[in-house]
Amino acid sequence: MCGIVGYAGKERCVEVLMEGLGQLEYRGYDSAGLALHREGRIEQIREVGRLDNLARVLAGRNGELSQVRTGLGHTRWATHGRPSEENAHPHLGGAGGVAVVHNGIIENFSELKEELEARGVVFRSETDTEVMAHMIAERVEAGETLRRALAGVLQRLEGSFAVAAVSVDEPGKVVAARHQSPLVVGLGQGENFLASAVQALLGETHQFLVVENGEIVEIAASSVGVFTTSGEPVEREAFEVDWDAEAVELGGYEDYMLKEIHEQPAALGATLLDRLDSGGVVDLSEVEIDLSEIDRVVIVACGTAYHAGLLGKHAIEKLARIPVEVVIASEYRYADPFGDDHTLVVAISQSGETTDTLAAVQAARSFGARVLAVTNTRGSLITREADAVLITKAGLEICVASTKTFVAQVAVLDLLALALASIRRAIPERELREFGRGLRLAPEKVEETLGILGNRVEQVVGIFEDARCSLFLGRGISYPMALEGALKLKEISYLPSEGYPAGEMKHGPIALVDEHCPVIAVLGEGLIREKTLSNVEETLARGASVIAIAREGDKGAERMAHVVLPVPEAPEILAPFICSVPLQLLAYHVAKNRGLDVDKPRNLAKSVTVE
Ligand code: F6R
Repeated sequence: MCGIVGYAGKERCVEVLMEGLGQLEYRGYDSAGLALHREGRIEQIREVGRLDNLARVLAGRNGELSQVRTGLGHTRWATHGRPSEENAHPHLGGAGGVAVVHNGIIENFSELKEELEARGVVFRSETDTEVMAHMIAERVEAGETLRRALAGVLQRLEGSFAVAAVSVDEPGKVVAARHQSPLVVGLGQGENFLASAVQALLGETHQFLVVENGEIVEIAASSVGVFTTSGEPVEREAFEVDWDAEAVELGGYEDYMLKEIHEQPAALGATLLDRLDSGGVVDLSEVEIDLSEIDRVVIVACGTAYHAGLLGKHAIEKLARIPVEVVIASEYRYADPFGDDHTLVVAISQSGETTDTLAAVQAARSFGARVLAVTNTRGSLITREADAVLITKAGLEICVASTKTFVAQVAVLDLLALALASIRRAIPERELREFGRGLRLAPEKVEETLGILGNRVEQVVGIFEDARCSLFLGRGISYPMALEGALKLKEISYLPSEGYPAGEMKHGPIALVDEHCPVIAVLGEGLIREKTLSNVEETLARGASVIAIAREGDKGAERMAHVVLPVPEAPEILAPFICSVPLQLLAYHVAKNRGLDVDKPRNLAKSVTVE
């Protein structure tokens, strides 16, 4: 996805912009550029491809650019117009006195472009962004300040966007605004920053301000102002982000995905800390919603977060005996949903910026539901739309494929299940505490799983070498795990993979099964295990290679499967956490064996902020 960085302050502008863009690289992009306020003009420097290409050009001009104090940087993920230098941001407006960078989509850009062309404006790119550059420039050329010009232009824009601009007439200033697309201000000493995500600025500051929809922000070396579109100043408190810059280092791991898989014990530990005591008693007093009034739960989310939601349903229904629906956010928003203020809508989003999940939240609000956001990102858009927030404290996740945030989401939903159960007295207190004490073991059991697996997963990837597709099977709580395993594998190794309830296999997917379709069975325990084993038998009879994820020492699994990826004995509530590890490692090693970039799968970005 596109990335924005803005800077006003000292003579280190180019360095800060490039460093910030570097921290957003993992989100994916196909060109990059800067607009620098220099010697009484705005200079635009843009390159197609990796940020390194831009860095090489800048390195050749180090001397001249070391004086620059104000500028904008952007990484572009092509939407309107192919990846090319002309389409790369920043875009200049009018005679070149204004430069603009933009994330998102201007939906009415064709209409605006026609109006500008009718007035004689000549376009230099195929982008929707360029209309904004010209519209702002027209107003600035007519004598308006940059801030006023941007405010005026905002009234005409439809769509979702974050935009930042500089003007030759106002050296030392950057103005910006947003509508449904993220933008934060970073606060410094004698310098200030703007970015589309806090990660871009963690090397510079931990103090941030949010910018709300429709507000205009103006930064200079020693001031930051937030204003309404009519120019009224707005008071805004800073918030602190406790992620450190080291989170963006690999720390000895080959890739972020592997690093983040190994960070899961810490992610779980931090997420459970202070919320679950040693006696298994949960404290979710931070949730500012009266949970005693809730009689129905709807979970909305996308992708991996949706799978966490399916696991949350199991936990809430089992422990609290409240009916739970789990709906993919992009379906929910268009499904004319209904309910009332006794409905708790739990919106799960690692980034807190996913457009469909945000729209689902708005749909829920329209009928008066109480909205609880589960997110990993403080200050993200979803935290501002919800009535209450539960932060998953997984730390910064850089790899596009979610791993540690998934387990942290499941942990938060388990906590919610315990809290609801305790309020409703749905099951005896003694049993609840036992579940709570079991949940507390999550960090150590995940650590143990990593230890038991060692390099076993790496050794089984040969099974996938002639694979045409793969089938993940599970029942009950193992079914969402099968879905998640299949999503991870297809997402990073590009091998078509299906996740299915094991009992449903014979109703179609069995047609896929042969020696070129490995089957991965998440066995689970008890009756579910027995039933899944008999489904696995059917796949063996059709020549499939079978990998079973089973408790260590499970003789039945060892007899039947070609390979067992063992997980430790653990309380039932921990099954999703410990089974995640072999599934994630399997996806990781299959992709590595295929020579792929696991951190940045093709066509995908870390957060889907445009529909
Ligand atoms: C898969 C993955 C995606 C995200 C989905 C939702 O590994 O990462 O499926 O889970 O795009 O993203 P968030 O949680 O940021 O709303």
